[in-house]
Amino acid sequence: MKRILITVCALGVVAAISAACFFFWPASIEAVQATHAQPTGSALVAKGEYLTKAADCAACHTAPGGQPFAGGRAFKLPFGTIYSTNITPDRKTGIGQWSDAEFVRALHRGIGRNGEDLYPAFPYTSYALLSTDDVLAIRAYLSTVRPVSLRNTDNTLVFPFNQRYVLRAWKLLFVPTRPWEPSAAHDAAWNRGSYLAEALAHCGECHTPRNRMFALKSGRKYAGAVVDGWKAYNITSDSETGIGAWSDAEIEQYLSLGHAPGRGSAGGGMGEAIDLSLRHLSSEDIAALTRYLRTIPAQRSELAARVVHDPGTLNGAKAWSPGADHDESAGFQVFASACVSCHGWDGNGQQTDSAGLRGSRSVNDPAGTNVVRAVLEGIKIGSLGGHNTMPPFAGAYSDEEIAAVSNYVIGHFSGRRGNVTAAAVRASRN
Ligand code: HEC
Ligand code: HEC
Ligand code: HEC
Repeated sequence: MKRILITVCALGVVAAISAACFFFWPASIEAVQATHAQPTGSALVAKGEYLTKAADCAACHTAPGGQPFAGGRAFKLPFGTIYSTNITPDRKTGIGQWSDAEFVRALHRGIGRNGEDLYPAFPYTSYALLSTDDVLAIRAYLSTVRPVSLRNTDNTLVFPFNQRYVLRAWKLLFVPTRPWEPSAAHDAAWNRGSYLAEALAHCGECHTPRNRMFALKSGRKYAGAVVDGWKAYNITSDSETGIGAWSDAEIEQYLSLGHAPGRGSAGGGMGEAIDLSLRHLSSEDIAALTRYLRTIPAQRSELAARVVHDPGTLNGAKAWSPGADHDESAGFQVFASACVSCHGWDGNGQQTDSAGLRGSRSVNDPAGTNVVRAVLEGIKIGSLGGHNTMPPFAGAYSDEEIAAVSNYVIGHFSGRRGNVTAAAVRASRN
């Protein structure tokens, strides 16, 4: 309650400053021009297609089961729901009539065509760092996708959050005012990785915790946060609570395929980012990202979720036999009937490595946050030929059964005691 009050007060202050800004901050528009280095024709479109994937515009601008880039995906916030918009070149309902300058202004400053302030659910706090050439290339590519006639869904935010000008002071405080710049202290690969992570692939939007004003905590860069009910883990160089102990090859494999043996698999927003974005990146770009991640200063996070690689509970376990860790609990039974055919008792994955649970952070987290999400919603990295698919079990089992199987999975694959309760599963369902 206290937290909510402080948040409301903080936002009240922001609203007051915003109202003041409102009168003397016109949504000016600057002419834009590409540099001489910008390609033209089909080379420009190809460049734009690659960047659009790296920036993962499709993830948010495509509704579940909807047409690519036609918008309508819902973003539920504590104070209402925001919908992404149609960014296909349809002239009436999409952005077909936008000028290049308007498009650049939207990505760099979070301003809509009519000068309205856009909500930061659209991660322009990261895209503000993109070079103008890259934004124009993205525009050139988006102009070639199939136009879809689909009206934008109205947001349902409560007062005062439905007053867009409230965002002005927030933007003044938290949106970078100039594009990303290379650091002379580092080589070209590191700089490419930094640009990819910070500007294009916006890793921090999920992996950096936010303060009460919904801004990223710069002092806790990549230290881990919760997104859509999933934990986006600590990806700093801390060896116990981050990914400092992963080899380069493991990080590269995880980012490009969604799985690294002995490290676990990507579900939730990470599975989606890999499916639609990261797996399309060149091996040079994946190596550059890895290079950059290695240099993120270590931050400690949840010590309770340290990974145990060879828990005693796996002693003697084989693909088809649980070994000594055999009981008749409800969780064991659900695992035996619904899970073992894909996962195996030894945690190495049956049929496919991707289903290997050994060493995964998720099964080492006593809170079981991501285990519960994975069981409820399943995982679909669709484009990898069906090997990375787990069906959803939300409708198949009760909260009690899902809590039981989650605790069994944590116990068996990490040797720890899971704390998942039926109430936690119910909360995760909502
Ligand atoms: C994390 C989700 C997310 C990602 C990624 C994302 N957007 Fe958006 N975008 C949104 C949401 C939500 C809105 C609506 C914001 C609002 O109503 O204030 C939006 C709005 C926009 C708008 C304003 C459209 C209008 O009609 O006013 C443009 C243009 C846009 N996005 C382009 C892009 C491009 C290009 C990319 C990739 C470089 C991208 N977006 C990536 C969520 C996202
Ligand atoms: C849309 C949100 C989102 C974005 C964007 C995102 N991640 Fe993630 N990431 C997650 C989530 C959620 C998990 C946990 C996945 C799971 O357990 O299945 C995760 C897991 C990871 C892991 C595994 C960590 C571990 O200990 O198992 C790595 C490495 C990682 N992300 C790196 C990145 C990098 C690098 C980027 C940017 C290129 C990125 N992520 C962008 C949400 C995101
Ligand atoms: C049809 C095969 C299949 C079945 C059945 C299945 N899984 Fe999975 N599961 C997978 C695959 C494949 C992955 C890895 C997906 C990826 O590559 O990201 C996975 C991932 C997971 C993860 C890791 C989640 C994460 O994001 O870190 C957990 C935990 C898990 N499964 C638990 C279960 C449980 C518990 C059951 C039974 C209720 C179950 N699975 C049933 C195939 C399956």
